[in-house]
Amino acid sequence: MPDPKLLTISGSLRKGAYNRMLLNEAVRAFGPADVTEADLHLPLYDGDLEEAEGVPDAVHTLADQIKAADAVIIASPEYNKGITGALKNALDWVSRVEGMPFKGKPTVVMSANAGRTGGETGQFMLLSCLVPLQAEVLTGPMLCVAAAHNEFGEDGQLTNDLYVKALQTRMRALHDRLS
Ligand SMILES: Cc1cc2nc3c(=O)[nH]c(=O)nc-3n(C[C@H](O)[C@H](O)[C@H](O)COP(=O)(O)O)c2cc1C
Repeated sequence: MPDPKLLTISGSLRKGAYNRMLLNEAVRAFGPADVTEADLHLPLYDGDLEEAEGVPDAVHTLADQIKAADAVIIASPEYNKGITGALKNALDWVSRVEGMPFKGKPTVVMSANAGRTGGETGQFMLLSCLVPLQAEVLTGPMLCVAAAHNEFGEDGQLTNDLYVKALQTRMRALHDRLS
């Protein structure tokens, strides 16, 4: 059987994002997989742009990646207690693509943040945003990595056993869902 196809989406655009490290850790905990990383460098959603030029190619690429994936893993920081503009923009664009790319798609969400709550409030907002997209959100112990700057070693791996165990639980559940 081929390895499951995972699409990872980082709500943070920066290269050194803790959320990208968290996604790498999620993939490592999942085990063998065919992994694609989404690119959220998309134009801002603008109804006039959509009317004049249609849905941009980069959005179609993202939508195709979502459709092709067996599961999607999203890790996003919260910005001012909400999801990042880049992630919201991407979800808004994807919602404009025919065929509801997220519909029924097993999806796991997590967050890493500098603050004490690890992005919990933003994560609830993300869960709300996935409802109209009809993603199949897999719940489990919430994974909100707080004070993220202290939680990853130089190798980019999580250092705290509590987070490692929660991540393994979530990824095992995803693995079971896809088996
Ligand atoms: C615009 C902005 C808003 C932020 N708002 C929050 C916040 O609401 N809660 C929090 O814990 N950290 C907040 N932070 C700090 C982020 O948690 C921190 O920059 C984190 O490293 C971002 O995730 P990343 O490493 O994946 O880019 C904010 C940072 C930025 C740039």
